[in-house]
Amino acid sequence: MARTGGKGRKSATPAGDDAMLFDLRWRRGQRDLTGPLSRIYGHQPGFDTLLPRLRALLARHWAERTADLRALDLARDVDPDWFLSQDMAAYVFYIDKFAGTLADLPARIPYLQDLGITYAHMMPCLKPRPGQSDGGYAVMDYRAINPALGTMDEFAAACAAFRAAGISPCIDMVLNHTAKEHDWAMRARAGEAAYQAFYRMFDDATLPRQYERTLVEIFPAQAPGNFTFYPDLNKWVWTTFNEYQWDLNWENPEVFLAILDTILFLANKGVEVFRLDAVAFMWKRMGTGCQNLPEVHDILQALVQAIRVAAPAVICKAEAIVGPTDLVPYLGQGRHEGRESHLAYHNNLMVQYWSSLAARDTRLMTYVLSTHFPESVRHACFATYIRCHDDIGWAITEEDAAHVPPMTGPGHRNFLADFYNGSFPGSFARGADFQSNPETGDRRTNGSFASLAGLEKALDEDDEEALDLAVARIVMGHALIASFGGIPLLYMGDEIGLTNDYAFEDFPELREDGRWMQRPAMDWGVVAGLATKRTPAARIHAAVQRLLAVRKATPQLASWVPTRIVDLGDRGLFAFDRLADDRKVSCIFNFTETPRQISPWGLKLPPGQGYDELLSGAPLAVVDNLVTLPPYGRLWLRQAG
Ligand code: GLC
Repeated sequence: MARTGGKGRKSATPAGDDAMLFDLRWRRGQRDLTGPLSRIYGHQPGFDTLLPRLRALLARHWAERTADLRALDLARDVDPDWFLSQDMAAYVFYIDKFAGTLADLPARIPYLQDLGITYAHMMPCLKPRPGQSDGGYAVMDYRAINPALGTMDEFAAACAAFRAAGISPCIDMVLNHTAKEHDWAMRARAGEAAYQAFYRMFDDATLPRQYERTLVEIFPAQAPGNFTFYPDLNKWVWTTFNEYQWDLNWENPEVFLAILDTILFLANKGVEVFRLDAVAFMWKRMGTGCQNLPEVHDILQALVQAIRVAAPAVICKAEAIVGPTDLVPYLGQGRHEGRESHLAYHNNLMVQYWSSLAARDTRLMTYVLSTHFPESVRHACFATYIRCHDDIGWAITEEDAAHVPPMTGPGHRNFLADFYNGSFPGSFARGADFQSNPETGDRRTNGSFASLAGLEKALDEDDEEALDLAVARIVMGHALIASFGGIPLLYMGDEIGLTNDYAFEDFPELREDGRWMQRPAMDWGVVAGLATKRTPAARIHAAVQRLLAVRKATPQLASWVPTRIVDLGDRGLFAFDRLADDRKVSCIFNFTETPRQISPWGLKLPPGQGYDELLSGAPLAVVDNLVTLPPYGRLWLRQAG
């Protein structure tokens, strides 16, 4: 047992205690590190030096951690499930579009607090390559802040201000690729073999062609293919996304150490949550789609557990936008249970919300969410969301669609793309196709929450009734992600119903990436009028505030409470129970514009009990033995206490 320099516990200096803590955490961490590291790197020469090098790296960063971050480390080491609490709610924003610069950011914290936010995701803010940068996801320096936003000191100050306000700062860690202007890539380009080994490079087109046979294209319209030839280098480089984003070679343990070094550098600036970007693509194997391979889960476990040694306050969120069966493993399954990412985007819940809304039919949603997803996971949860800065990929499989005859996979995906680009007769949506691929027939969709849910059209047409329905759809979406289990992610502006921003079309740098449509700037003018006007923005904002306040006051909605999907036998309704130890909460959503009536018995509520409807704060209204859900109505019911 490590002691503090031979002194007794009582006389231990803080430094002694800290050294002991590190030692204990390293011992604990090794249990969860050696397995994955030896599986991915164990066969390589020099593996025996990897663990000592890793320990030294972790010790160095731990030594540099400030006292307040160490205090947070200790608190979260004792309560590692802290982020599963029902008071967690996230806000996702671009610093420039939300506040201006990093220096302006702290002044906006009261707005977030007022909304009930406890987690702030600052969209890409590390130094991007000049010109096109995939919205900042092509990073040329992970240790510098985008100069347009401020300095590293201002970043650390913003993190400290968030921390003081009880808000956990989150940033993107792009670890599948760097910009081709990153120092590692420049050295590789200059011929340094050690850095060429950081990337996936090929001397001729033979292997790239073989890989291509089973790869999909992410940006077929603007960046077809997965490899780029550079004549000066005389090599092909793996470039899954854009040409200027070079895929890192995670088979090289130096990449693991270098990225971990960067993460811990940023953690010591005050970052509490890392959004690990595009993780599905980190490992490649010939003959596969090179997504979601088992090694990805080993890498993630190793990263998460290494971070836990040197910065236990920090958690990681996996961004894997994949099909239902590939998604759950990111929260740790089998040998990775309780040891992998703390959070993962629930893109399937998002897709199913939009699918049920367009179809006025929840059967696919009920099937997919009850079949492919566990009721709970250990020490992890989903990040639930309706919209983000990216397009919507219609992740609906042929097999799942076949469970709702006569639906087919391609048929339903086409219907959704048409519905949300507005071309389907009667559609309420205003969105646009993205990355149409004539070869595969695949199309994705852009558009803001409000525009896809009908607000833009209703406002343009000055149609009061359509406007009410659009507001109700939006509030229902917010209610769904606030109650489903997991941390709800509120995308900037969705709390005031910001519609599509078409201005990007005027900027040559942005024009070819339609995702800028759903990245409007925050409208502080609208915010200023919230208290006095009964606009759609004010109605949505008040509803979100209420939802988050009720969520916070309802322990049964914590993310550690299991979620069981309930089939109510009405295809217009979607429902689930939150199975808390004491009392369950039943959440019911009407996905249609017609009122639905249902008996309490039909709602599967034990008879003879009183129920509180948490959102209205009133007892459940049962009239003539029926409960009525208005168009897009939502109920959160809890047995009266
Ligand atoms: C993630 C980001 C997306 C970006 C991609 C490549 O999916 O959300 O915006 O284009 O990674 O970095």
